[in-house]
This record gives sequence, C-alpha cells and structure tokens, in this order.
Amino acid sequence: MCGIVGAVAQRDIAEILLEGLKRLEYRGYDSAGLAVISSSGELQRVRCVGKVQALRDAVNQNPVKGSTGIAHTRWATHGEPAERNAHPHVSDYIAVVHNGIIENYAGLKEKLIAQGYQFSSETDTEVVAHLLHKQMTQSTRLIDAVRAIIPHLRGAYGTVFMDRRDPNTLVVARSGSPLVIGLGIGENFVASDQLALLPVTRRFMFLEEGDIAQITKTTIEIWDKTGRLVERPVIESNAQYDAGDKGTYRHYMQKEIFEQPNAIKNTLEGRLQHGKVVFNELDNAAQEMLKQVEHIQIVACGTAYNAGMVARYWFEALAGIPCDVEIASEFRYRKPAHRKNSLFITLSQSGETADTLAALRLSKEIGYIGSLAICNVAASTLVREADLVLLTKAGVEIGVASTKAFTTQLTVLLMLVAKLGRLNKMSEATEQAITHALQALPSRIEQVLTFDNMIEALAEQFSDKHHALFLGRGDQYPIAMEAALKLKEISYIHAEAYAAGELKHGPLALIDADMPVIVMAPTNELLEKLKSNIEEVRARGGLLYVFAEQDAGFESDSTMKIIALPHVEEITAPIYYTVPTQLLSYHVALIKGTDVDQPRNLAKSVTVE
Ligand code: M6R
Repeated sequence: MCGIVGAVAQRDIAEILLEGLKRLEYRGYDSAGLAVISSSGELQRVRCVGKVQALRDAVNQNPVKGSTGIAHTRWATHGEPAERNAHPHVSDYIAVVHNGIIENYAGLKEKLIAQGYQFSSETDTEVVAHLLHKQMTQSTRLIDAVRAIIPHLRGAYGTVFMDRRDPNTLVVARSGSPLVIGLGIGENFVASDQLALLPVTRRFMFLEEGDIAQITKTTIEIWDKTGRLVERPVIESNAQYDAGDKGTYRHYMQKEIFEQPNAIKNTLEGRLQHGKVVFNELDNAAQEMLKQVEHIQIVACGTAYNAGMVARYWFEALAGIPCDVEIASEFRYRKPAHRKNSLFITLSQSGETADTLAALRLSKEIGYIGSLAICNVAASTLVREADLVLLTKAGVEIGVASTKAFTTQLTVLLMLVAKLGRLNKMSEATEQAITHALQALPSRIEQVLTFDNMIEALAEQFSDKHHALFLGRGDQYPIAMEAALKLKEISYIHAEAYAAGELKHGPLALIDADMPVIVMAPTNELLEKLKSNIEEVRARGGLLYVFAEQDAGFESDSTMKIIALPHVEEITAPIYYTVPTQLLSYHVALIKGTDVDQPRNLAKSVTVE
C-alpha cells in the first residue's frame, strides 16, 4: 500500500528519496512522486504513473536538487491511478504526502471549494493540503497549523507536511498508519517503514497513535495525542533489507517459497527443548495468565486468517481448548460479546494491517484475559500494542502473496497449541508428538520442494482454465482455502475452496471438464470420506488433481492425476501440503505472465480498511 519517505538534511536528498521508495515497492502501488525544496526556495515536484523506475527516469529528465523533501508511492483509494492524483499534493507553498484515508474529506472539500480553493485531483489528500494552507493564514509556524487542523481530520492516516518557505522543517502526524523517524547526524528522516531508511540510518523512533512531530536537521520534537511534549525511545534496528537480491530466483515469491525450510528452522530455534516447547519471551506473569485461558479468539486477515483456521482444528483437537476464528474486518464491527478467560490472538505478517490493529484495540475494550500477537515484523504497531508477542522468524517477505509468513505462522501456532495444551489437559506424549513433528518439518519441506519440476509441468494444464475448485477436509480445508487464495491472487484464475463434505450442498453443480478440482488428501482418519467426495466429482466428469501420500491407494488415470508425496507426520501435514500448492500457483502465474510479486490491485501491507 502507499509508502512515505521524507528527509531534512544537508545534502541532496533526491537519491535518498528514490532509494527509499524503491525499498517500499513491495508494498504495492500504482504511481509515485516526490517534491523537494530547492536552494532558492522553489518547490520542485515530479510525479508519474507506474514504477519507481519511471519516477527515477522522470527525475533524470527534470533533475531536482534540494536537501529537504518528501516522496510517496500511491495505492489508489480516491481517484484512479493518474499523475494528477499522485502525491505530493500541493497548495501554493504547502506540500503533503499521505498514507491512509481521510473519511470526512467530502464535507471538507465542499467547504474549501466554497472558500475559493480549486482542486486538481480526486484525492482526499489534496483536501488536507488546502486545509493546511488555509490554516497557515492564521498560524506562523507549520507545526502550529498542523496541530490546529488534525482534530478536523477523521480516518486513519500517516502524513508528512512541508512548507517551502521553511526549508529546514518537516512536520509529521500519525493516526492509524505507521510512521518512523530515522535519526542521522545533522540530518533526520521519516518513513512509513524503517526498511526505506536503512541506507541512511539504523536509529529509529517509532511514532505512536496520535503523535505529531516536528523534525529539523538537528531536532525532533514529539507531541502525543493529548498535546503533551513527549520523548519516544530511540531503537537501534537490526532489520535486514535482503530484498535487493533475488539470487538465482526469478521472483521474490519463488525465493520465499524455497526459503521455507530455513524460515521454519529459524522460527523453531531455541523454542524446542527436550520434547517441550519453551517460549523464553513469555515471562512468569505471562505464563500465569496463559494458565487461566479457557477459550481462544483468533482474528486476522487473508492468509493469516487461513492460518488461524488451521490452528482452530489444532487447539480444539490437540489441546482441548475451544477456539473461534474471525476475519478482522468483520470482528471489529460486529460488537462481539465478552467471553470469560478468553485469549485474543492476532496473526499478521506485517503487523500493520489496519483491520487487524483495529480488532486488537477493540479487544481491549471487550475485556479479554490478554492479547497475543504472532507477527513477522518486530518493529510493527501490532507488536508494540499486544500484551504478549511471539515472532515468526521468516525474514522479510517481499512477494505480495504470502508464503513463508503462512508456514511460519502455522509453526508458531502449533508450538502455542503444545504450550497451552500442556497448561490444560494435553498429555506429555501429545506434546512430544508435536515437537517431534515440528523438528522434522524443515527437512520434510526440503523434500517436497524437490517436486518443483513436476508441479511446473502440471501447471501447464491450468493455463487455459478460468476457474478452479480446491477441496479438503478437517485441517486441510483451510489449506484448500489458502491454496485458492494464492491461485486467484497471482494468476487471476477464479478459485474457490470448499470443505469436501459440502460439495453435494451446491458446488457439485459447477463440476464439468473445464473445472479442475484440486484435492488435499493426506493420509488421516478422513481419507476414506474424502475418497467418496472424489468419486462424486469423478462421476460427474470432473478433472481431478489429488495431492496424496504415495501409498494412499490412489492411481492416476485419464480423469485423475495423483501427485504422490512422501509420508509426513499427520500433525504437520497442513504445513507440508501447503508448499506444493504455492508452487502450483507460482508456475500457473508464470505461464499466465502476470506480475507475480506485485499482482494487480493488491498491496503487501494493507494499512487502510
Ligand atoms: O500483513 P498481514 O499478515 O496482516 O496481511 C494480511 C493479508 O493482507 C495478507 O495475508 C494477504 O491476504 C496476502 N496477500 C495473501 O497472500
């Protein structure tokens, strides 16, 4: 989604801004722009539709030079992707970049038009630029004007303001959309994600909800939401930007699929000891709280929601703890009822997903026993706001389609099942079976990755298809959901997932020779039931692709292709069976020629609701 970079320095900052935007590309965007204040106090602005490289080319043709500036990648919300809608937006001497949505922009716009302001875009951001300009007629300093207008803005936003008449100052405001200040020597920076600033600093201050800050080359002043001058801690970051290098891989998604054995290994490291799960990050008070847990509420979006759905099967079957799972955008507006001794778990790769954050904040009002975030980004808002945190150690995930984040979320969730289970009624033997299965997982996934060529060949059969149906039962049903999400997301093939037992309640009507049906069929107590569902499809002329164990009793024929996988521990089968479906989606997308890492209309980090 949108990205922000800003700098107030003593050197030319155009390259810093462009490199920062480049590093935010993975978040997904459709246009980009920057504005710098020249030494003669002129506002130089360049904007264009398309990639950051196009902006770089435009800057090369119309060079800009200055030591204070702001830049932005835009993911369209109000107004189509077009140069006029790209940020920064200006109002005379004011320039603004903005992430998020100003919900009350329409009313404000009407008033500003009545007062004589003219609009050149359809964005909500331009409203903020004009509003600030109007306020500047009553305030002498940018910071005062920003503090005066913020109470009039509703919605979630991260915003950076610049006044060309005061070239040594940036003012930033955070409400619902992350902003981080990067500290330099004789220069300071701001961005929506620390990754953008790693080439210039490793020292960061993370703004909190409602913070407004004034940044100069040598000073940083921050006011909190009550208007009090506050200090935010300076964090020395050890974040890695390893995205620059795809190595021998064609796409980040492909690289990230193949990184899964290591990502899981890193996630397990130090957490399995002598057949037990050990979370050193949970102190005694946390352990005491976990002992009280009688119910679990998981809330997340997209792929993370699918991980939660798998965990539900595990929590109930293995740990005997009732568990509900809900999509964050529904939960946050549903007015959920209080439930005694319930633990609120959020799952998120980025830790910045607007709906998930809103759900976490709501959970605090409802009165859960506590909140626990499972997240891949240590410096994220979710991690800062949750009571307890378990990090997935997947490393930076760049591909919009989530892969290693999903399998590492499942890894942490399964460890948590063992941990909570042992505090509940789970036997030591079950705990050991879980830790044993987890330990074997990295090498099992190495094994399944060797099927890549075979799956590449299989993908050919999907290249002319417009629809696909994924089926699973039990904990493989959410894996079918995740597989369908992956396929539709990057290949644009319409894909749906069904619990196989539901087939005859409707979806069977869709079956014909043009509808590939992909079945997740590991050997477990539901296999025989699943075989009956497979026969229902066969009897109606459906074309089947079945992922199953070698000795599960399936044979390929003209209507059914078996992808025979090696044996895997039943407990971790959901994690294992995910991998071939990721490869399938990847290869289908390659054949279709779509933008694998940045599929159309999507963003990596969904920071607006
Ligand atoms: O960063 P999060 O895990 O909170 O993101 C949630 C979803 O937006 C994300 O999983 C999305 O569904 C992925 N693009 C799926 O591949």
